[in-house]
Amino acid sequence: MANDKRVIKGGRVIDPAQGIDRIADVLISGNEIVEITDAPLEQVPEDHAVTDAAGLVVAPGFIDLHTHLRDPGYEWKETIESGTRAAARGGFTTVCAMPNTDPCQDNAAVVENVSRRAASDAVVRVLLIGAITRGRKGKTLAPMAELAEAGVIGFSDDGDPVSDANIMRQALSYAAAFSLPIINHAEDHSLVRGGVMNEGPIATRLGLPPVPASAEAVMIARDIELAALTGGRLHIPHVSTAASVELVRAAKKSGLNVTAEVTPHHLTLSDTWVYGLHGEVPDAVPAVAYDTNTKVNPPLRSAADVVAVREALADGTIDIIATDHAPHAATDKVCTYDEAAHGINVLETAFGQVMKLVHENVISLTDLIARLTAEPAKILGKTTGTLATGADTDIVLLDIDAEWIVSPDDFASLSRNTPLAGVTLKGRVVETIFAGKTVWNANTVESSAR
Ligand code: DOR
Repeated sequence: MANDKRVIKGGRVIDPAQGIDRIADVLISGNEIVEITDAPLEQVPEDHAVTDAAGLVVAPGFIDLHTHLRDPGYEWKETIESGTRAAARGGFTTVCAMPNTDPCQDNAAVVENVSRRAASDAVVRVLLIGAITRGRKGKTLAPMAELAEAGVIGFSDDGDPVSDANIMRQALSYAAAFSLPIINHAEDHSLVRGGVMNEGPIATRLGLPPVPASAEAVMIARDIELAALTGGRLHIPHVSTAASVELVRAAKKSGLNVTAEVTPHHLTLSDTWVYGLHGEVPDAVPAVAYDTNTKVNPPLRSAADVVAVREALADGTIDIIATDHAPHAATDKVCTYDEAAHGINVLETAFGQVMKLVHENVISLTDLIARLTAEPAKILGKTTGTLATGADTDIVLLDIDAEWIVSPDDFASLSRNTPLAGVTLKGRVVETIFAGKTVWNANTVESSAR
């Protein structure tokens, strides 16, 4: 293999797990990180290929705890192959696939089948999340022990909440036996009542049915109470409101086993994006309003909520960034706002989106990278997410100042549903290495990635 032994030379190596942030070289051999070294080039053995990383950041490959690969069942939206190619472009070397597939991942046979196909089709690591309830219907628990045995890394009915508090209580109790998190879609359906966007002046102006912020907080409050009751591990997905942040903050203060994630879109886009003008507020509602690519669950929230989740990420209340990559076909989005499917295509834009927080001094680069690497690895209990000697060669090379324009037609994802088309992002993934192989190289796009 051409790049079996390789030195990635002269980059700014950031490995939050080891507290490293300095100019150095990373030596790799096959799927093993040999060392981070400051030795001069002359001392690098001759059989090593040299990659010049001057001016770039070299970091562990990102870990996404919340990805929808749509496979099996919705392969026109995404497949294991296309979704993991999108992940590679986005710098992610691990994705955790949600179970809202068809059939859904609520039994070992499906989990084993998807794992087997991932072993042949995926270009990065795929971990699977099992369903909490059979068929994700919220009525009876899925065979959680069997799913844990099959290797799932947590349980979720994502897309749908577990509305029955007693089922949720049982799920937290059982999952505690395997030390796996329950990731409950935090939305109280009795408060959502068919709402399609955040409750507030914009929903009123557009005449769209609203979703109150409380729909999220009510469910999170309940789940935190049940985590306290059972001692189970609760991971709260896509936190989007200031009230939710306060609940998580209080739960952590009282020592509960609670972790939380936030998406790139909830960190960077508010509900003004529903106007379809990239966040601009129009004098009169224009024809481009109702941008269905902004329809997502939970909905894009108020500007104050965006500030709150940013602060919570920076102060550690929210542990990680997870994409909630939710690819949907054009037919799911070229329709009225009411009819459109929920979800945003995120993997390939995520890094450029969240770098906005570094450029605006909301969070340091090291902390941001920790929230994409070391912190999700901790939640997973895995030894990935680091450049430590002996670790797998999950590595990204990043140009944090490169500006690029989002062009959905260039996505590796089979779907194009982003509200960011035409938007300039600052921060680009230059190369992604997984298992010793380059799975994405922005400079040699066609040859390495397609
Ligand atoms: O917007 C969303 N789309 N939110 C979810 O929780 C599920 C996801 C999907 O599967 O499309």
